[in-house]
Amino acid sequence: MRILWIFLFTAFLQAQDAFLVKPYLQLGNAPKAAARERLELMWHTEDRDAAWAVEVRAARGWTAQAAPAYRRLDAPPLPAHRIYRASLRDLAPGARTPYRVKLNGTVVFEAEARTRRRGSHRMIVFGDAADGSKEQAAIAKAVAAQQPDAVFITGDLVYPRGRASEYRTRFFPVYNSEATPLMRSVPFLGVPGNHDVPWDLQRWPDTLAYFACWSLPLNGPALKPGEPNAAPAVAGVHEAMVAASGPAYPRMASYSFDYGKVHWTVLDSNIYTDWGSPALRAWLEADLKAARGAEWRIVALHHPLFQSSRSHMDDQWMRPLSPLLEQYGVDLVLAGHVHNYQRTAPLRFKPAKVGPRGKPVAGTFIVDETFDGKTATRAKGILHIVTGAGGAELYDPWQTDARASWQPWTRAFVSDKHSFTVLDVEAKSLKLRQLDAEGRELDAVTLTK
Ligand SMILES: [Fe+2]
Repeated sequence: MRILWIFLFTAFLQAQDAFLVKPYLQLGNAPKAAARERLELMWHTEDRDAAWAVEVRAARGWTAQAAPAYRRLDAPPLPAHRIYRASLRDLAPGARTPYRVKLNGTVVFEAEARTRRRGSHRMIVFGDAADGSKEQAAIAKAVAAQQPDAVFITGDLVYPRGRASEYRTRFFPVYNSEATPLMRSVPFLGVPGNHDVPWDLQRWPDTLAYFACWSLPLNGPALKPGEPNAAPAVAGVHEAMVAASGPAYPRMASYSFDYGKVHWTVLDSNIYTDWGSPALRAWLEADLKAARGAEWRIVALHHPLFQSSRSHMDDQWMRPLSPLLEQYGVDLVLAGHVHNYQRTAPLRFKPAKVGPRGKPVAGTFIVDETFDGKTATRAKGILHIVTGAGGAELYDPWQTDARASWQPWTRAFVSDKHSFTVLDVEAKSLKLRQLDAEGRELDAVTLTK
């Protein structure tokens, strides 16, 4: 009996110590839906050898998956550690699939993974997220209560500098805790914001952690390190992060994927990217052209094209893309960067003159005045959503009730509450709701085809 207790206690301790970061789900390099789906499972451990195995419960019981692989991350201040990944394969679409992780033959982790759905689904979107605040935690909890099928973060994933050490304390413990077990249950997707990259060539050796900690499609523009439009890494500072990122750096900054009847085009909008350059523009046009068969098209990025906040008012360098997005029938543009919630009327825009970065981009607007999202639900133009109220301190709360301070095409503006966006997508309708941390509805519109 005593031996049994010792055995159980040892197994318990092993489970407690097994992870620096518990297993979390990623879409991996799987941009398209498949007859049998797959997901990527990642976890972080100390830098020592151990026998890891992953199993998925299939019709014939627990099925071993291919052996997990790891990359070592050795960038101070964290001690060198390992980032493991394993593919969960041959999964039924839209199912909840039980999986478990074994260490030296003992099960140390068990959860259920939601695989990509074919049709109706719920995607939750928010940005400007992991600053370690109680508001971030409250939003995470409210997101979990809505039971999304997947989550998308519109940049500024972790504050203040996108560092591996910040992910360890501010990101994973909030989105993948026992109390809020989101990331172990549904895949998270995202895009780097200005706080996720060394925008001022800052010298933290463990920044750029997006490329090492996330696993997303590698179908974006084929950028090489050091090229124009690639996230900058500083020689002699960021080598460890680049090594730990493998093929993800710098390519994974932009990508596209399908979920249900939606095609998502995800753009790195950071200041070093020039989407007017032939290489990036050609990629974007080809991606949108190939998505013509999708029912819905969403573009997600960090820096909004159109917004009303006094903060970041002049960060308009993505505006010149609007005509191309309109041409290919993009329905929604989802952004962050500005720490509040905003929704425009359906817009069409022609830039007059594109000046230097950080200066306003003027042009002419065609505003769909008939769309109300309630009875008139067919939009002529693109709805631009800012959903940057996922945790970080809010911008310009006074503007919520100061309608005169809004741009003439802004239709909703909530900057005095943290919030997140719920997209309920069906074949012919897309319902967008903005909820606060208590689940109260702040705004709602429906789009139909
Ligand atoms: Fe930002």
